[in-house]
Amino acid sequence: MSRFLIYSFLLATCSIAFASDPSPLQDFCVADPNSPVLVNGVVCKDARLVKADDFLYRGLHLMGNTSNNVGSNVTAVTVAELPGLNTLGISMARIDFAPMGINPPHTHPRATEILTVIEGRLLVGFVTSNQLDNRLITKVLEKGDVFVFPQGLIHFQKNLGRGYAVAIAGLSSQNPGVITIANAVFGSNPDIAGDILAKAFQVDNKVVNQIQSKF
Ligand SMILES: *[C@@H]1O[C@H](CO)[C@@H](O)[C@H](O)[C@H]1NC(C)=O
Ligand SMILES: *[C@@H]1O[C@H](CO)[C@@H](O)[C@H](O)[C@H]1NC(C)=O
Repeated sequence: MSRFLIYSFLLATCSIAFASDPSPLQDFCVADPNSPVLVNGVVCKDARLVKADDFLYRGLHLMGNTSNNVGSNVTAVTVAELPGLNTLGISMARIDFAPMGINPPHTHPRATEILTVIEGRLLVGFVTSNQLDNRLITKVLEKGDVFVFPQGLIHFQKNLGRGYAVAIAGLSSQNPGVITIANAVFGSNPDIAGDILAKAFQVDNKVVNQIQSKF
């Protein structure tokens, strides 16, 4: 094989191995949510009909309502809220925390997340995969600190302060997806059979039923 072919092969395999959202094939592809056509992403609106507002989202200065069981609220700005994000492989979110509030353990199947603290003090962490022995990696973040949660890994945040905390996150997908572990495992519809969860979590069936009843 020529050197060129070897490099081409390496490039091709690398771009497959490291690909997240596919790269755009045009300047933009503003999402047309009304199209009945199903594709990987969203169908493009006619480029000549695109308006400045298609690239605009307003409202990230507004605090989310944190009066819920976990004491946090995520305001997501994905392709669903901002059609211009379609095919661009990026999105963002504002996360509000009540005092002692948490953003419970969750994963984004399609995105790495980079987060900065705008107000308050947060304990953040993620857990490595089984291959790396489920190591917990945590840090206390002060205002202005930036932390990254690698794609697909389970992560969480907790407000350590007495006041409200605010974080802003960038995510490497137009549609990162969220799987909140507790809700997915104990609140699936229909339920995962109690004996499966009892064995998986090494607890009594009663404990499983008790947790399931909360979701
Ligand atoms: C987050 O805040 C918004 C705006 O206040 C509210 O409509 C929504 O219900 C809240 N979500 C949760 C999960 O509390
Ligand atoms: C926040 O949500 C709670 C629970 O749903 C609700 O009772 C309260 O009125 C909301 N607060 C605001 C400011 O919307």
